[in-house]
Amino acid sequence: MKPQKGWTVTFQPEGRKTVVQHGVTLLEAARKAGVVLPTRCGGKAGCLMCKVTVPQEEAAALRPPGDAERRKLGGLLDSGVRLACQAAVWNDLSVVVPEDPLKAAVRRRLEAARRGEEDGLW
Ligand code: FES
Repeated sequence: MKPQKGWTVTFQPEGRKTVVQHGVTLLEAARKAGVVLPTRCGGKAGCLMCKVTVPQEEAAALRPPGDAERRKLGGLLDSGVRLACQAAVWNDLSVVVPEDPLKAAVRRRLEAARRGEEDGLW
């Protein structure tokens, strides 16, 4: 069923939303929403940098993974991981964008500093 106004995709944890037409990839939707997903292969399922997580209850809102995505992700598909460059939107859904590793490290250090922990790595 194709909606007249498109499907709403919400990118967590920031909650950014965009509306896209049926079949648009999550990578395109992310760009439209202003969400930066790293890519190195140009969206050809080659770099695995565009991984996002889709809650199990929303998995059917995406086109099922094709051969390339299955081959690249293997068992990660069972955890709800999808390649944004391959996953086409078929319905409204929310996806979780992993935190940038550098930002995550800084956040953890700041949280530790706020708690008064010190490990001598600064
Ligand atoms: S952009 Fe490289 S695997 Fe998706």
